[in-house]
Amino acid sequence: MAELINGKELAQSIRQILKIKCDELKEKGIKPKLAVILVGDDSASKIYVRNKNKACEEIGIEFEEYILKEETTTQESLIKLIENLNENPNIHGILLQSPIPQNLDINEAFRTINPDKDVDGFNPLNVGKLSLGQDTFVACTPHGIIKMLEEYKIDLEGKNVVIVGRSNIVGKPLIQLCLNKNATVTVCHSRTQNLEEYTKKADILIVAIGKPNFIKEDMVKQDAVVIDVGINRIDGKLAGDVDFENIKNKASYITPVPGGVGPMTIAMLMNNVIKAAENQKLKTK
Ligand code: GUN
Repeated sequence: MAELINGKELAQSIRQILKIKCDELKEKGIKPKLAVILVGDDSASKIYVRNKNKACEEIGIEFEEYILKEETTTQESLIKLIENLNENPNIHGILLQSPIPQNLDINEAFRTINPDKDVDGFNPLNVGKLSLGQDTFVACTPHGIIKMLEEYKIDLEGKNVVIVGRSNIVGKPLIQLCLNKNATVTVCHSRTQNLEEYTKKADILIVAIGKPNFIKEDMVKQDAVVIDVGINRIDGKLAGDVDFENIKNKASYITPVPGGVGPMTIAMLMNNVIKAAENQKLKTK
């Protein structure tokens, strides 16, 4: 029976530490503040934004929400808003919730976010810094996964890490983070042939493809570490990308859904906002 990787508990203890750091910044006259932009009506995005707001409140980070209507938002108005937030010294972090409507260019929007306020780590400059192994803002979900592995003392050095999913948000930054830990990294995706040949070799299997219960027991090596990034809603219930019930008997460690990767994503966002506020304080000194 696998040990559960308790992301909820770990995220809670990270938030407590961040609250202390936030209080220290406030004593020095800096009020960390996150601006979140949401365009359109995506129901999952609304839940994510609500959860981010709650986490900010708990830590004492100020939160400003820009909810833009799909019909009236143009590329120009979105870029203008980001530029205004870039220039506002009271805003330390800017997050554009994705997805945004198809008629808008999200790449230009991410490129416009000041790299010093890019708490999602999606600005190409920060993506480049990550790939060069330089200190930067790292995308929150992959960052949270690495923190969980560190906390549970799961060493990646020389291990076979297999990532299923190649998104810009999760799979691609994970490649770099795992390489930095000296893992041997393989990336699989929707066009990979004989997927199970790869997944069965994984010492650490990280799955982010958005298909409920997609990874079955016979695709997993005995005693593998299994990290499930999936958040799928089936009949109102959450399911991961991994067939948890059957794999939990075979894995050595496994993350539950909910209560695994999800809370860590938000904790890492909070971490990045505090880091942004600290960095900007240093720059203005
Ligand atoms: N949509 C899904 N995940 C994320 C995330 O981590 N950040 C943003 N901005 N949008 C998302």
